[in-house]
This record gives sequence, structure tokens and C-alpha cells, in this order.
Amino acid sequence: MNVNGRPTRTLWPSADGTAVEIIDQTRLPHAFVTARLATLDDAAHAIRAMLVRGAPLIGATAAWGLWLALRVDPSNDALDRAYAMLLETRPTAVNLRWALDRVRTQLQPLAPAARVARSRQLAIEICDEDVAINRGIGAAGLELIRAIAAQKKPGVRINILTHCNAGWLAMIDVVTATAPIYAAHDAGIPVHVWVDETRPRNQGASLTAWELLNHGVPHTVIVDNAGGHLMQRGDVDLCLVGTDRTTATGDVCNKIGTYLKALAARDNGIPFYAAVPSPSIDWTMRDGLREIPIEHRAETEVTHISGRLADGTVASVRLTPDKSPAANPAFDVTPARLVTGLITERGVCAATEAGLRGLFPSQGSGQR
Ligand code: MRU
Repeated sequence: MNVNGRPTRTLWPSADGTAVEIIDQTRLPHAFVTARLATLDDAAHAIRAMLVRGAPLIGATAAWGLWLALRVDPSNDALDRAYAMLLETRPTAVNLRWALDRVRTQLQPLAPAARVARSRQLAIEICDEDVAINRGIGAAGLELIRAIAAQKKPGVRINILTHCNAGWLAMIDVVTATAPIYAAHDAGIPVHVWVDETRPRNQGASLTAWELLNHGVPHTVIVDNAGGHLMQRGDVDLCLVGTDRTTATGDVCNKIGTYLKALAARDNGIPFYAAVPSPSIDWTMRDGLREIPIEHRAETEVTHISGRLADGTVASVRLTPDKSPAANPAFDVTPARLVTGLITERGVCAATEAGLRGLFPSQGSGQR
């Protein structure tokens, strides 16, 4: 993805080979600032405080976090401690466990001295695979958008509603849920995106809007409550969201508020698709509502909001009465029955176990 005309990833190894650099997403859209992760603590903090966020990027950062830990101490104990510390940073996105398991399993049989170089290779592999997976999702989703375009008069815009940020900033380089949107835009199909602001952290308003603007994709930011109204008026052709964990049976866990959009889409006969990179599938789970751990974040994310003041400084202000408590569940589960289909790097399938296993036949049940 280009930022100010320069190809940029969301995370990359530092030039001096001793650290990892990231885009600090807490500073967007008002400032483009990078941060340096030089230690395991830095990596864990970056995930927890959401300097990096989005399921695939969380997983990739955790893999690099293991490398940072092993540079200091490559022993079994240090590996296990780093694994446990990173695993508890954010509970919902299964990509975190997927990346940590993948690295740890390959490192365990190695002599400690060989682990540093190998963990670096594995972290690079995970990042490069993420790019390839998301290219596949872009290609598969583009066909869906083409099919909708074919039902419209030439030149009439296709309105796509998206939630949170499942774009480039949620992964290493190529976008996920929004990958088909960029692919359609680049192919000359007239797409327009309704960007849910996505309270409380406003990843839509601050991140998705910034990305789409950078790429020149027409879009409009809306409050989270506007989606149903737009659907009733015929102003939404397609809902496209990402996922932090999709069960083997097709239940989609994503940013809080996704479920309400799926309900409104069903009531209005609008297709509702989730883009699901294979590392976001949890083959061990069959009932998303009961089994997926939902992250609960700080009350201050609800009671306060931050933004840029007229003088250019960024400030946080309180929205609620001082003594009103707040609750902040960060994700919800959309049952498979409300999901029209899943867009994976291997193609589009029904949100069912048969659909997913048809595309990923080698996944045994109960595998981690
Ligand atoms: O809390 P966040 O910002 O990490 O949540 C991100 C989302 O919910 C995205 O939609 C999700 O990670 C999908 S990205 C492929």
C-alpha cells in the first residue's frame, strides 16, 4: 500500500536488524507516526494498547515478539514465558494463537542457539503468507462485486457497507474484507463504501476512512446507527466485514456491532459476507456464541473520545457523567445463519461446516 507515494507495510524489520518497526495506529488519522518494538514487552504493549490491531496483524506482531524475546534468551523457559505473555494480550482474534503455536511448534525441537534465526525466518514467512492470502481474498471477492455490478445499469455505483477496519491496516500489506473493494475500484467498477465509524475506538472513522482516502476509493463515514436506515432505503448493495475468529461451523466473530448489521441486512434481503483468511478459522470451535472468548476493554474507551481540536492538537474528552459506569465488550458473534457466505483465499463458500471443509479438506475436527 502506498503512503505519501511510498510503498509501506504496517510492520517491517528495522534496517539495523535488531527490532521491528510498526505504524502506530493510535495516532491515525491525524498523524502518521512509526514506533520501534525492540523487546518482548514492547511487542506485548503494542498489541494490548492497539498500536497494532486487526486479527492478522496481531498474529504477525506476536510472531515477531517471540523473536524479540529469543534474542535475549533462547531457552525453553523463555520461549514458554514469551508465548504465555503474548497469548494473553488480546483474547478474541484466533490469529494470535495460530501464529504463536506455529512458531513455538517449529522452535521447540531446535537447539536454543538455532532458535533466533529460525524465529525471524518464521515471522517473515507469516507476514509474506498474509500478503498472499489477502490477494486470494481480493480475487475471490472481486467476482462477487462483478456479479452485483452485472445486475445494475453500467456506471451505476455499488454501495458496500463495512464495519471496523478490516483493511490494509489490519494486516501486513494487502487488505482483507476491503480487498475486494480495492480490487473492484482498481478494475474500474464504480464502488462507494459506507464506512461505519465503529464506536468506541472508531476504527472505521479513523482508519478505514484514512485508507480509502489514500487509495482514492469513494466513501462516506456514517454513525454506526445509520446502517439499518440506509439498507431500508435501498442504499446498500452488499455488506462486507472481516473476522477475528470464525468457527468451523461458520459463526463469525467480529468487531462489536457486526451482528446488528447482519440482522438489518437479513431483514432487507441484502447479502452479508465475511472475508475469512484461513488463519482466522478456529477449527476447534463449533458454537461461536458459547465458545469464543469476547474481549472486554477499558471503560474509558466508552466514556471518553479523542479527536483533533481546532488548534491541531489531539485531545481526549469525557462524554458521559462522571459517575455513570460503562461496559465495553469489543466483539460480537454473528450466527452462521445470518451470513450469506465466507470469502476465503480459496474461494467463496457457504457459512457452514460443509462449505468450509469443502475448501479446506485437510483440516481435521478438533485440530489446533
Ligand atoms: O479491535 P480491533 O481493531 O483489533 O478489531 C479489528 C476487527 O474487528 C477487524 O474487523 C478484524 O480484525 C478483521 S481484520 C481481517
